[in-house]
Amino acid sequence: MQENQAGGFAIDFSGLDHIKLYHNALPELDFEEISLGSTLLGKSTKTPFFIAGMTAGHDGAFELNWKFAKACATRGWAFGVGSQRRLLQYDDSIDDWQKLRAEFPDLMIFSNIGISQLIVSSSVQICKLVEVLKAQALVVHANALQECLQKEGTPQFKGGLQKLKEVCQTVGVPVVLKETGCGFSRVTLSRLKEVGLSAIDVSGLGGTHWGRIEGARADNPWDLKALASKTFSNWGESTTHAVINAKKILPRLEIWASGGVRSGLDAAKLIALGAQAVGYAQPALKAVLQSQSNEALHLWMERQEFELRVALFCTGCDTPRELQQKEGVWTIIKT
Ligand SMILES: Cc1cc2nc3c(=O)[nH]c(=O)nc-3n(C[C@H](O)[C@H](O)[C@H](O)COP(=O)(O)O)c2cc1C
Repeated sequence: MQENQAGGFAIDFSGLDHIKLYHNALPELDFEEISLGSTLLGKSTKTPFFIAGMTAGHDGAFELNWKFAKACATRGWAFGVGSQRRLLQYDDSIDDWQKLRAEFPDLMIFSNIGISQLIVSSSVQICKLVEVLKAQALVVHANALQECLQKEGTPQFKGGLQKLKEVCQTVGVPVVLKETGCGFSRVTLSRLKEVGLSAIDVSGLGGTHWGRIEGARADNPWDLKALASKTFSNWGESTTHAVINAKKILPRLEIWASGGVRSGLDAAKLIALGAQAVGYAQPALKAVLQSQSNEALHLWMERQEFELRVALFCTGCDTPRELQQKEGVWTIIKT
């Protein structure tokens, strides 16, 4: 169940409350044996967790990025930066991005750009986003609803699929397509089969929702877009359904899950359903903003890890991978 706040839901739209992991009273394991070790884009990682891309365009963003990067590097999480859109036009952030990478040379970092910017950018511009960070992947976000409702939105998506195909061939690192809280339907997933993506982050309905955020931040509540935001406040495909469908429709891709993940137990459920990695955005931001030192962020991350370990122990699994491979670990609760 979600906290009720801008960007969250009072009721469970993620579908996670409908997934149950069966309790194993006799796990035949010692807790210390449990490893969160996983693989992401073919590389070994200490955990299956990542911090999902959040905005990088405001003052103070680099300080936040630095804090996220430090915590992720320490704990073995991957780190997705927010949209690098500014870098398509201006070079003033290059030093900051390069410093971030230099400080954390072994951190798995993902570059980020929106699909409407991708469509109008050259291959040289896109490669630059990856190069300044020496990123391990390029994450492209598809945010159709947000672009429609945002005051300064760019809902021009024509040619997006073809451009994605081209980028997959030219950018030189794995390409990941993500949503930003509205998920992917079965039909959209089917259209992604031959694109050349390495992974898809479903980022489904159930957590941060741009319909709600754009509605909440409008200066004038009678503004056309603010009013439409209310109408579309529950729009999208649940994280749970998107993971189940993606697993079936795109078996050769890594499936990542974000959108409304609010505990290590949520993460365990999504891993059981087939997610290779699990991402958090809004709760990570809340934690990093809580203290000057990184204490609150570390504590929050430790909690996610511990809760995942508990879920593994109590299902009798010693790794996230086993949670996926073991038969009869989860079920859908019908109401
Ligand atoms: C403050 C904020 C900024 C975001 N900026 C981006 C962005 O620049 N690029 C992107 O791909 N997603 C962005 N997102 C979307 C998140 O990566 C994620 O898909 C979405 O918030 C759902 O996860 P959550 O429910 O854990 O917040 C942003 C989310 C938040 C909360």
